[in-house]
Amino acid sequence: MRTIGVLTSGGDSAGMNAAVRAVVRTAVSYRIGVFGIKRGYEGLIEDDMIEMDYASVSGILSQGGTILYSARSAEFFKVDGRKKAAFNLKKRGIDGLVIIGGDGSFQGAHKLYKEHGIAVIGVPGTIDNDIGGTEYTIGYDTACNVALEAIDKIRDTALSHGRVFLVEVMGKHAGYIALDTGIAAGAEDILIPEITTDIDAVSKKLTEGIEKGWRCAVVVVAEGDDAGGAFKLSKKLKEKIGRDIRVTILGHIQRGGRPTAIDRINASRLGVASVDMLMAGQSDIMVGIVSGSVVTTNLSKTWTQKKGVDTDLIRLARLLSS
Ligand code: F6P
Repeated sequence: MRTIGVLTSGGDSAGMNAAVRAVVRTAVSYRIGVFGIKRGYEGLIEDDMIEMDYASVSGILSQGGTILYSARSAEFFKVDGRKKAAFNLKKRGIDGLVIIGGDGSFQGAHKLYKEHGIAVIGVPGTIDNDIGGTEYTIGYDTACNVALEAIDKIRDTALSHGRVFLVEVMGKHAGYIALDTGIAAGAEDILIPEITTDIDAVSKKLTEGIEKGWRCAVVVVAEGDDAGGAFKLSKKLKEKIGRDIRVTILGHIQRGGRPTAIDRINASRLGVASVDMLMAGQSDIMVGIVSGSVVTTNLSKTWTQKKGVDTDLIRLARLLSS
């Protein structure tokens, strides 16, 4: 391995910069070249990349977002797009690529390896924490803390006015942010895509809770909940419980902000591990964290073997808010 590339792809997440920094500085320590590719696979197809060195990643550890920018590339999912990308990599002598992103980005990386023999290593970067083979994804901890701070604020005003709030957090297909922030915020109910929402049961819980003395209620809803998200749900619930419901959509604030210590440390560990793996001749794998240790998983397992929700946490959430 003489030269490698690094890119960030898909939805950005706090801590991606820490991973980029770790990749670049580890490459420097191995005395190999390293290119930063802009805008994910889009930049790869358009040959938009810059050579990086130790100093090019100075001062980025504490910054949210990604200095390499990100994109969701439709073209890379076509054979021709990947052909252009492989051509650009080979032209610059790049024989290994670190992809920091989610499982969609890993599917593209897997194809690049299969079709063009480019060594690829995935680093899990998404606020959704919905990748198989790792308990941790870069940005999840920061997103949860950003959401939690916001939900705590909503609790203050909900309590003052005696109101019911639905707070929608991100997660189109996964309820991890909703479940963890809901527990941490003491939510009266938590609605996630992994569990079918029974609107009658939610309404009964709220009505009974209010009858027995709840002054307010905060329900955390994942954006991908089957009941249709917080706005739709509020209309249905309003009729059933016969009182006003306020809705707050937290949205993209969950993707920004300064990364927490956990995100900076773990992203650094994974960035270092990704280059170690390339130097050891590995490819088509993701580096992740399980039980506190860095582990590797075949890329294809990251989207075929999704982790389920923690049933102990579901029980705990129900127990503590009944
Ligand atoms: O993949 C992370 C994520 O933030 C999801 O939680 C959310 O559904 C999606 O990205 C939003 O994507 P975009 O920024 O492209 O609207």
